[in-house]
Parts: sequence; C-alpha cells; structure tokens
Amino acid sequence: MRPVSDLDSASALRVTGPHPARGALTVPGDKSVSHRAVLMAAMAHGSSVITGLSLGEDVQHTLRAVAQFGVVTTQEAPDRVRIEGPIRHEPDDVLDHGNAGTGIRLTAGVCAGIAGVSVLTGDVFLRRRPMDRVAAPLRLMGATVDGRSDGHLAPLVIRGGALTGITYAPKVASAQVKSALLLAGLTAQGTTTVEEIHPTRRHTEEMLVEFGAQVLVEGLRVTVAPGVLTGTAVCVPGDPSQAAFWAVAALLCDEGDITVHGLYPGYGRSDFVGVLERMGADIAFDQTTGTLTVRASRLRAVELTAEDIPGIVDEIPVLAMAAAVAEGVTVISGAGDLRAKESDRIASTAAMLRAFGVRVTETQDGMVIEGGATLREARVDSHGDHRIAMTAAVTAACAADGESVIDGWDSVATSYPRFADDLMRLTQTRACPLA
Ligand code: S3P
Repeated sequence: MRPVSDLDSASALRVTGPHPARGALTVPGDKSVSHRAVLMAAMAHGSSVITGLSLGEDVQHTLRAVAQFGVVTTQEAPDRVRIEGPIRHEPDDVLDHGNAGTGIRLTAGVCAGIAGVSVLTGDVFLRRRPMDRVAAPLRLMGATVDGRSDGHLAPLVIRGGALTGITYAPKVASAQVKSALLLAGLTAQGTTTVEEIHPTRRHTEEMLVEFGAQVLVEGLRVTVAPGVLTGTAVCVPGDPSQAAFWAVAALLCDEGDITVHGLYPGYGRSDFVGVLERMGADIAFDQTTGTLTVRASRLRAVELTAEDIPGIVDEIPVLAMAAAVAEGVTVISGAGDLRAKESDRIASTAAMLRAFGVRVTETQDGMVIEGGATLREARVDSHGDHRIAMTAAVTAACAADGESVIDGWDSVATSYPRFADDLMRLTQTRACPLA
C-alpha cells in the first residue's frame, strides 16, 4: 500500500507563515493518467506494468475496483503495479470509488460493456455529484443505468452487455464523459464518436493508441473503433495540476523560487502556465523535459472565460489565490461546472479567499476577485476538497501572517499524500495536526 505520512490523516492541519517557497521537487504521478492506465490495463489482454502510479486514495480505489473483475493486480513497489487482464466477469461486489469522480465515471464506461450487473458508489461528496452526464449516453449505447434521484446520482446500477456505437455531443466539456464513452466504445458494435464543445485533456485518446486501439482525432471529434487492447508498459509522468500549487506558492511571496521536474508535457494540462504568464509571472515550462520553473513576480489581474476553463479546470482555486495578490480585478466566468466538482468549487474557493481577507464576489458561473489583498491568518474548511485544502496550505505557509488552520485536511490523501511534508521542506514552515 501507499506510504502514509503522519500528517495525511490529520483532520485539521495547523500551518504557520509566511515563509518563501524555494527548492526543487517531483510531484505524484498524474492522477488522470493513472486512472486510465489501470482501467485500460484491466481491459487489455496480457500483462501491463504501470510505473509512477499516483499513490493517492482515488487511484487506489480504481485499482481495488479492477480486482473485483477477476483481474490480478500485483503491487511490485509503492508506485509500480502489474496488472494481468482482461476483465473476466462482472464485479464480485460493490465498486467503491471513494472521492474519485474520474474513477467512477470512467469505470462506468467500462462496466457498460461487461455482461452482468455492476454497482458503483463513493463517499458522501461523490454521491452528490451528477452522474447523468455519463448515464444518459451509456443508455443510448444500450446499457441499463439506474441510480438514486431518477438515476442521476450514485450508487449507480449498470447492467451492461451488448453495446452499439453512437455519435454523441456532451453538453459540458468533460474529459471524463468523453473517456467513459470511448472505453465503452471498445466493446460496442460499430464506431463511437464524441464531439466536444471545447477541447479537453487527451489522455484517453493517447493511451488507447498505446494499448493498440484504433482512434481517430479530427479537431473536436474523437472516434474509437471496437477492438481488443493489448497489455503494455505505462510510465506515468508527474501531475501538472499538483505542480500548480507550487508554482503559485513561489508567486505568493518575495524570494519564491520553485522548480518541478518530470511533469506530463502534453496537451491540455499546463494551460495554467499560460494564465500565470498573462498575469506577469516569471514562469517557464520546458516541454521537452517536463520541467517547470517559477520565480517570485509582481502579478496583474486576468480575465478568464469559458474557452480558458477546460484547460485550467482543476487549477481555478489556486489561480484565484494568485489573483488575490495580483494588481487589479480578476474576472472568472464560464466556469459553472466547477459547482459539480469535489465541492461546489465556486462557493468553496470564494469562502477560502474571504477567510484569508480577500474581497470576492461569487457569480453563477465564476467570481470577481479584488486583487492587492494583504492576506491574514485564517481558518479554512476544505469542504472535503483536496484542491481547496492544498491551496489554503500554500497560502498559509507563504503569504498569510500568523497561524492558519485547515479543516478537512484528510481530503489531501485522495491525490497528494506527503503534501504537508513537501510544504515543510520547501517553505521551512511548521505544519502539524491540530491537537
Ligand atoms: C478529469 C477531467 C476533469 C477534471 C478532473 C479529471 C479526467 O473533470 O476536473 O479532475 O481525468 O478526465 P471533467 O471531465 O468533469 O471536466
């Protein structure tokens, strides 16, 4: 199992600041890539070895889920797992995805193609998130999908089997929906095409090809042909979304200087770098090596609209904090889907900003942030959302004067165990569980 830091399980973390963030690090294996690698390895014939796997609880749930399909998983090292596919039968028991939206939605796509019944559930936060976005198209493909509240919420019950390929245009720009349909499409009769309204991360398309599937990408249309996957070796790169916390940490104080090595260099995951550049940051991302370097800079406000959002969908809380110390007023719009993330991320981000002393107005699909704030110590509720907790932690360590407390710190274990250890090493700050 993953190594657990003593601080991981703390339900509240106390952090003192401010101290500049300085130094070099690698971040956990990419969470999006890890989920896909585990699921495709489970579907594939033969052996796959995945190295650099995310050690967070979200991906551990996906690993435990595929074991229920009769797939043998062997943890060869903390971040290396061998998976012997293919899926042999319907799951033996309920699939518990914990807090993982990507885990449950992508696995739903896999279950739609398995003859038999699958029941998928998650924690109290996941069970509030909309599942109709995957349930509706999977029904069109021929699966029976039911769930709570008219079938829109988990637990989901899927009776899968013979599927027919469809052409589908999701109303929301969502890599999770696209991926669920492409995975289901592997077992369907005829091709499956997803037409996106805005481009989203392309990990599924990229990895399907590595596992031997036939995939055609034409602008915003992705088509997969039914076919058998073949086991392969996957090396998971570092998670750019986790690097974003350290990038902003470096920008929140004078003398900040951070280098992150080994990040995923591909499409749709490092747009936050461009946003911070637009804000005036001294930041560079070397796409040949996956190295990100960031130095303390004076920031200015930015306007972020619907076109920007898919590329920074997970980075809004930490970018909002950068906006809080920037000069001018930042306006974020077209981000309504953030209300359906691990928390209502518009409300939880605004509440976090206010707790640190920032003036912010929530709108239906975004927020307006008054920059130039002097950040004060705060008590912040993560609302069960790891990205709120980590944003609050770097703010408390690097920019807020005094001692802050982050409630719901244990949410961080879903994606970045040892975050508090990295925080202490890079900022020389003290972080300890609240007694
Ligand atoms: C993800 C897609 C995004 C993102 C999530 C990971 C993925 O969700 O927010 O953290 O791995 O496909 P949506 O598809 O809901 O936008």
